[in-house]
Amino acid sequence: MLKIAIDLGTSSTKIYEIGSGIVLHEPSCVAVNAETKQVKAIGNEAKALVGKTAEFTSIVFPVFEGEIVNHAMAVVMLDAFLSKIGIKSGRGRVEVLFCVPCGISDKAKSSVYNVCDDLGISHLHFVEVPYLSALGQDLPISDSNPAFVIDVGAGTTNIAVLSLDGIIAGASLNIGGSNMDVHIIDHVAEHFGLKIGSLTSERLKNTVGSLAEGDNQSTVVNGRDITTGRPRSVAVSSSDISYPVRVYIDKVLEYVGMILKKLPAEVSASICKSGVHLSGGVSKLVGLGEYVEQKLDMEAHVCDEPQMAVILGAGRAIGNPATLKKIKMEF
Ligand SMILES: Nc1ncnc2c1ncn2[C@@H]1O[C@H](COP(=O)(O)OP(=O)(O)OP(=O)(O)O)[C@@H](O)[C@H]1O
Ligand SMILES: [Mg+2]
Repeated sequence: MLKIAIDLGTSSTKIYEIGSGIVLHEPSCVAVNAETKQVKAIGNEAKALVGKTAEFTSIVFPVFEGEIVNHAMAVVMLDAFLSKIGIKSGRGRVEVLFCVPCGISDKAKSSVYNVCDDLGISHLHFVEVPYLSALGQDLPISDSNPAFVIDVGAGTTNIAVLSLDGIIAGASLNIGGSNMDVHIIDHVAEHFGLKIGSLTSERLKNTVGSLAEGDNQSTVVNGRDITTGRPRSVAVSSSDISYPVRVYIDKVLEYVGMILKKLPAEVSASICKSGVHLSGGVSKLVGLGEYVEQKLDMEAHVCDEPQMAVILGAGRAIGNPATLKKIKMEF
C-alpha cells in the first residue's frame, strides 16, 4: 500500500512519499477568478501572482493560522498537488498521515477529515506537529526521555514538552512568520514612507531579518512612495526591521515561560540538560538560537533543515507502524 504524509501548512504544503522522500513543497495558495470562480493557478504559480493580479483575480490561502478556512479551495489545491505527484486515482488505497497543530480542536480535525473525504482518502491518521518535529530532528525521545520542541511556522507556533508516552505540556499559538510580514509592511511605511507588498516584505524578513545583535545586513526593496505615489526603492537593514521580527519571538517566549512553569520537576531537570529544539521556517532567522538560549537560559538547537523537520518526521512515522501507533491521535 502506498504511504504518504501531508503537512498542509499556512504558507506551504509539503508531501512525503515512502520510498521517495519529500516529493512536493509548494505554497498553499490558489489564484481564482472572483467572478467566474475559475481556478487560474495553484501553488508556485499562484504565489508568484500575489499582489500583482487585476481586480477580478483573488489569491486564496485555504489555510489560516494552521486551520483549513476554505474547504473548497483546500480540496482543489490538494487534488492538484496529489495529481502532480502521480496520485490521481485509487486514493482509497493510500495510507495518509496528516500533520496537525498541537491540541487541534474537534472542529478543525473535522475540517481536515472532510477535505480528505472529498479527495477520496479514507485511510487517515492524525499526528500532532511536536511529535513530528522531534522525530524529524532525530531526537532520542522515549517514554522516560522527554524532548522540548518549538516549531515556528507561518501562521502557528507549536510548543511542547513530550515523551513517547504523550505530550506533557504543550500548545499551539496563532503566531508565526506571517505576523512579522504584516508588521514589517506597516513598519516600512511608517519609517520610510514606502508601501511594500507582502511578497517583498516576506523576502525582506527572510534575507535580512535577524535577532543577532549588531547584525546590519541590508537589501534594496521596491515599493510605492506613499506621498508621491511613484515607484521608489530604499535600502532596508536588519536593525530597521528587528522590532517587527523580535516582538513575535518575544510573545512566543512569554508563552513558553508559562508552559515551562507547569512541568513536573523531573521533566524540568531532564530538558534543562537536553535544551530546546527549534524547527519551522522561521527558525532559519539569523541569531534565533542564541536569542532563545539567552532568554530561556538553556541550550537551543536549530536543525539543518528546520522548515522540513515536521514533514521528515511525518515520513518516518508513516514508515514505522509501531511509532505511529504510539503517537497518532484518536478520532
Ligand atoms: N530565512 C528565513 N528567515 C525567516 N523566516 C523564514 C525564512 N525562510 C522561511 N521563513 C518563513 O517561514 C515560514 C514558513 O515556514 P513553514 O513552512 O514551517 O510554515 P508552514 O508550515 O507553512 O505554516 P504553519 O506551520 O504555521 O501552518 C514563512 O513565514 C516564511 O516566510
Ligand atoms: Mg508548519
